[in-house]
Amino acid sequence: MALQHVLFVCLGNICRSPAAEGVFLHLIAREGLEDQFVVDSAGTGGWHVGNPADRRMRAAAERRGIHLPSRARQIELADFTSFDRILTMDDDNLRNVKALGRELGNRPGLARVEPMTSYCRQHSATHVPDPYYGGEQGFEHVLDLLDDACAGLLESLLQDSGRRL
Ligand code: 4NP
Repeated sequence: MALQHVLFVCLGNICRSPAAEGVFLHLIAREGLEDQFVVDSAGTGGWHVGNPADRRMRAAAERRGIHLPSRARQIELADFTSFDRILTMDDDNLRNVKALGRELGNRPGLARVEPMTSYCRQHSATHVPDPYYGGEQGFEHVLDLLDDACAGLLESLLQDSGRRL
């Protein structure tokens, strides 16, 4: 199977997309598929560039045995050519990422940009809510949604490449 490049994107790249990256990495490690994927995350904003994931997000993930290795960075045009898939957390992220991608025009081979929640199978959420200004429960909810969406995403990626879990 060809290496698949997957990028998760939120606003600050310190809560939701680092969590998505960590959950997806955890899942592919569990399935023995870590050499099949390149996984990263980025933010549409650049305020937190270089920072580790938010302490509350890391703590919530660690309670589930999930490590978040990310250092924040801002999405850039090169990401549309180096990644196959870009998964966004909410409508603002989706709109901003698509607007950035349009700068490259209609050329073939650019990353497919999709809402992360479109891969949820257990939850009917339309976006992954920003937990930054809320309480602990918000971080747990992010992880619940991402667990669901990452499983659906992996299944879809494997199906695309003719494989199954
Ligand atoms: P994230 O959460 O997009 O899930 O990383 C946020 C973190 C920080 C800010 C916004 C959202 N902020 O405005 O600083």
